[in-house]
Amino acid sequence: DWTMAAYREEAIERIRAQVGKGRVICGLSGGVDSAVAAVLIHEAIGEQLTCVFVDHGLMRQGEADEVVSLFRGHYNIPLVHVDASDTFLGALEGVDDPEVKRKTIGKLFIDVFEAEAKKIGGAAFLAQGTLYPDVIESVSFTGGPSVTIKSHHNVGGLPERMNMKLVEPLRELFKDEVRALGRELGLPEAFVGRHPFPGPGLAIRCPGGITREKLDILRQADAIYLDEIRKAGLYDVIWQAFAVLLPVRSVGVMGDGRTYDHVLALRAVTSVDGMTADFYPYDMNFLGRTATRIINEVRGINRVVYDVTSKPPGTIEWE
Ligand code: XMP
Repeated sequence: DWTMAAYREEAIERIRAQVGKGRVICGLSGGVDSAVAAVLIHEAIGEQLTCVFVDHGLMRQGEADEVVSLFRGHYNIPLVHVDASDTFLGALEGVDDPEVKRKTIGKLFIDVFEAEAKKIGGAAFLAQGTLYPDVIESVSFTGGPSVTIKSHHNVGGLPERMNMKLVEPLRELFKDEVRALGRELGLPEAFVGRHPFPGPGLAIRCPGGITREKLDILRQADAIYLDEIRKAGLYDVIWQAFAVLLPVRSVGVMGDGRTYDHVLALRAVTSVDGMTADFYPYDMNFLGRTATRIINEVRGINRVVYDVTSKPPGTIEWE
């Protein structure tokens, strides 16, 4: 694609001009955006870049392995894998306010990045895969007075004071353009086509307080849901699909017994840029089959509902 080839060259020049001989830390989230940003920056400044994958304990099933193998195996780009799940989950204990969650996560990410920067003798820059819609949505809501809907940032809510300057080479791009750039950079198609995954991870798919037990239930249910989507050939038709574990229990009956377990919501939307979205009109048989599988296979869930809200008035994530 000639446009993206030109963009790639320009972006590389801009990165070089911004960082000079400085060192850059790039946080990888498991999503497409941060991966594309990292590969682009690596092309621009090579060994001045250190990629850090922070496992905050809020990843989906298998996510950490996929990212690590893409970077180490496919690109041979050095990657520091930090297991910070105890720190993140500890700090999130008892936190149920969505913005406090985001800010807590954002601050901890920066702590980890600053600690990693120190280990390599300092880094002046922090790179992120922030896209144009992220920029717009964290700043204001168009049409009205300036209101923050959520502290959208690749890592959640970034602290106001930070020692590192941001490098955000995708700030002007929409998702489809980032995917085109990813292809231009040679990222495997399976990776480029991945559904978006937010930096704060499953924390924003588990409304209310977060516990390891809830995350574990959510991870299992989400994996089954995505497996059914792939089997039905719908993965590429849908912009984003995921499960949400609700902080609600309800009574059910299984076999001869009474159950009192969690409600799981399934979400799937079509969209062009994530700024507006329509709920995906599944066939009811698909939903029935998926709900049955989840309830049979995951202990702790006895009811599954489907979210038929578009954006607006809903947002894509539940938090
Ligand atoms: P919402 O929920 O605001 O989400 O309709 C729009 C798109 O943005 C993703 N999202 C995030 N991505 N960091 C990210 O990298 C974040 O903090 C974040 N919050 C939401 C969301 O998954 C959807 O694709």
